[in-house]
Amino acid sequence: MDRIQVPRGGVTPPLYMLGRVEIREVQVDELPAAWELGRLAFGSGPRPVSPPEPAAVPGSLRYGAFDADGRLLGSAIDRHQEQWWSGRRVASADVAGVAVLPEARGRGVARALLVELLRGARERGAAVSALYPTVAAPYRSCGWEATGVLRTVELATASLPRHRPSPDLSVRPGEPADLPAVAQLYQQVARYRCGMLTRDGALFDRPADALPEWLDGLTLVEDGGRLVGYAAWQRGSGYDASGVLTVHDLLATTGAAARELVGVLASWQSVAPTLRLRLLAHDAVAAHLPLERAREYRQQVWMHRPVDVVRAVESRGWPPYIRGTVDFAVDDPHAPWNTGAWRLEVADGAAELRRSTEEPALHLHVRGFGLLYSGVAQAVTVAGAGLLRCAAGQHPAALDLLGAGPAAQLLNYF
Ligand SMILES: CC(C)(COP(=O)(O)OP(=O)(O)OC[C@H]1O[C@@H](n2cnc3c(N)ncnc32)[C@H](O)[C@@H]1OP(=O)(O)O)[C@@H](O)C(=O)NCCC(=O)NCCS
Repeated sequence: MDRIQVPRGGVTPPLYMLGRVEIREVQVDELPAAWELGRLAFGSGPRPVSPPEPAAVPGSLRYGAFDADGRLLGSAIDRHQEQWWSGRRVASADVAGVAVLPEARGRGVARALLVELLRGARERGAAVSALYPTVAAPYRSCGWEATGVLRTVELATASLPRHRPSPDLSVRPGEPADLPAVAQLYQQVARYRCGMLTRDGALFDRPADALPEWLDGLTLVEDGGRLVGYAAWQRGSGYDASGVLTVHDLLATTGAAARELVGVLASWQSVAPTLRLRLLAHDAVAAHLPLERAREYRQQVWMHRPVDVVRAVESRGWPPYIRGTVDFAVDDPHAPWNTGAWRLEVADGAAELRRSTEEPALHLHVRGFGLLYSGVAQAVTVAGAGLLRCAAGQHPAALDLLGAGPAAQLLNYF
């Protein structure tokens, strides 16, 4: 098979043939082939005895690469999610399930899938995109850049402070009827951060009469009947030295609620000597944990990219105390609608990105855009990484305006 040539610099047609490979949406009757490709690529267990009825997953679009005989060579999923960026919802095309047949690898199939996914994502109104890579290189080469890490840490349960229960708060196990309040508390925590999923939309629709199947328990902390904290946990097996309690969400909106939750977790020490926690940086709970004793259990790097720079800038929230203007050019070979000269204006908690006719002194690669936009790097370090070019005599710091905002974080894996 020849290497696939992806058109550069021009808008790709909606469905296009690359050599003898066609990129298009996977049809329902082709889903079993796509599942099998994913099963083999990600090692997700033996082939099921009776496969499920094929049905598309609502809230997502699966792209496939097909050869001239209609054989599926590769697949990638656009998850229609939203992310919170400083109080505003931003439409995201989060990417998952990228897999290519072993025999078709190294010929540009993944790149062709990602380029078409980006085009389709822009067409449906997405502004940004995040993904968890098993290997960063194919995504870097298409404009995503590593912008964060989802950390899971382990703590000895006995190292947590054991508090007396507060007389002002009540603690109880949660039930399915509590799920809307739990979702609301998550929104309260996530809303003014950046990058966190909104956790709503078709992909997150669940039956209202049961806890999610992966959850063993919900511990709720209430103040006068109002939910102020919760832990969503999985018990795991055994009660000897190997016992582990995995806490997927550990969130609180007050310091007292966080202290109460930590006290409940500490009470597991006799049967679950290890706690496995997904932490949110510098939140109410982190302030009550003995973080100096935390051991890294897993680090899942995630990458980010603008799908459409205008939407990415205009649909997010901006710090209300920031005001400024900067001219710069973007170079985005795989999403050419982003390429060109722009003027960014930030004022009063909002921003605009307009086409500019000026020849700008700052030239930003789209991967540098992702780093700045996510608030995880300064322009001077982006320049040092070779992703921002400055005209002679210019200092890159003017582009820190694009990075004005809290560092992006994610608490969901997908
Ligand atoms: C990773 C995978 C999807 C890449 O697919 P592919 O069709 O071989 O990738 P492409 O040929 O389109 O390569 C695109 C670019 O990524 C690079 N690349 C691809 N796989 C790579 C790897 N494993 N390590 C380093 N670079 C890699 C290519 O060299 C190419 O770089 P270039 O732009 O500088 O030329 C494929 O190897 C695969 O299915 N692996 C198993 C499942 C998996 O890991 N999926 C990713 C989940 S996040």
